Amino acid sequence: MKKIIICVGSSCHIKGAYEIIEILKKIINEERLETEIELGASFCQGKCTEGVVLKFDQEIVTKVSPENIRELFYREFNRGVN
Ligand code: FES
Repeated sequence: MKKIIICVGSSCHIKGAYEIIEILKKIINEERLETEIELGASFCQGKCTEGVVLKFDQEIVTKVSPENIRELFYREFNRGVN
């Protein structure tokens, strides 16, 4: 099971963290990955100026936005699951 943790601290929240969560939920649903990917939220990751911050398993990804999340998701997912 892969884990995606999205920072929902105030800075990331302002930059669209909740919108990103909704988009991720939609992708997971469309791709029927509910049993393979777990979504979670975290408090501030200390990288507010680089937000939105999220973690694909242990890898921190910065500058995530509602515009680029799909691309990032597919890139990470294809690499991580064989
Ligand atoms: S609020 Fe997300 S890194 Fe600080």
